[in-house]
Amino acid sequence: MKIGPIELRSPYAVAPMAGMTDTAFRRLVKRHGGCGLVMTEMVSSEGLVRGIDRTLEYAEYTEEERPISIQIFGGDPAKMAAAAQVVEGMGADIVDVNMGCPVPKIAKHNAGCSLMREPEHAASVIAAMTRAVKIPVTVKMRAGWNDDERNAPRLARMVEDAGAAAVTVHGRTAAQSYSGSADWDLVAEVAECLSIPVFGSGDCLEPEQVVERMRLGVEGVLVGRGVLRNPWILAQAADLAAGRPVRVITSAERGQFLLDYMELLLHERVREPEGFRHSLGVAAAPPSVASHDRWVINKIRALGSWYTKGLEGGSHLRTAINSAGSLDQLRDTISAFFLAPVSHA
Ligand SMILES: Cc1cc2nc3c(=O)[nH]c(=O)nc-3n(C[C@H](O)[C@H](O)[C@H](O)COP(=O)(O)O)c2cc1C
Repeated sequence: MKIGPIELRSPYAVAPMAGMTDTAFRRLVKRHGGCGLVMTEMVSSEGLVRGIDRTLEYAEYTEEERPISIQIFGGDPAKMAAAAQVVEGMGADIVDVNMGCPVPKIAKHNAGCSLMREPEHAASVIAAMTRAVKIPVTVKMRAGWNDDERNAPRLARMVEDAGAAAVTVHGRTAAQSYSGSADWDLVAEVAECLSIPVFGSGDCLEPEQVVERMRLGVEGVLVGRGVLRNPWILAQAADLAAGRPVRVITSAERGQFLLDYMELLLHERVREPEGFRHSLGVAAAPPSVASHDRWVINKIRALGSWYTKGLEGGSHLRTAINSAGSLDQLRDTISAFFLAPVSHA
């Protein structure tokens, strides 16, 4: 399938997740197969335009991740258009607009899901962006703001008319946040009435669900929390769809994923060849060893809180990861749990 001229090898993608889908994580998931598209965490349009270091870091990516979509948030058409130009200048394949974030800090600035409350304005943001760049502009929205305003079908048509190249719908309202369940009937309704590709998002925790959702007429499925729990879910969905036996992931492989993630994070900006990272060339100050280590520990804790869900003995592992105070302790904890598993019953 294609988004504009960008060919996706698989219809399954990693959903953007703030704090989680950093470049190291995206690379690792891609290496495990089945993944047609990765998206960055949401990046502030304001920060991109003003060149704020921290923001620029969120937008960085590596060649291995292509095709890559950089997701931006904001509510001002001119600023969003300028931010899209920055994204295009970084060589990204796609720029995606966040119209789904329910967090008040974002929504009150006329960005994220609050854009769904002003469809004309939302469409004008997309129109300004599509005029400003050649790369495809896509939109990720929710079902609507609340149960009285489930306007995804109408807004999706409007952003299509404004030039969007694809739309993703997470079938919950902002009011629901992550409670209840995603409404895939609504996702199917949007897919039915648009001629651009429509992706669905929400509640795919098993590879079977990913494959089943494709039968609803969507062109692709974005998986978020399911990937944080099981980074092989897209590869397993691809196995199923191709009629192959679904790959079985051993405990050792699961442990190795965490150790590999840790290694990639440790090497971030430290021993990277010239040009490895697509960035805006702003030389970030090298982190001190202690602060870099602390950052890696916090990153593993963040992933650990998802990764351990549903595992036998997962809550023990979560506690152990959260109390490991050094990288060595963290490695030992992970190795002891996954590589030399004992019964946690
Ligand atoms: C920790 C976390 C962070 C998220 N951050 C973003 C984000 O930055 N941009 C966005 O469009 N959606 C974000 N989402 C929503 C997901 O992309 C996805 O649409 C939602 O979680 C439903 O899919 P799932 O059930 O497969 O997780 C986030 C979700 C989670 C759990």
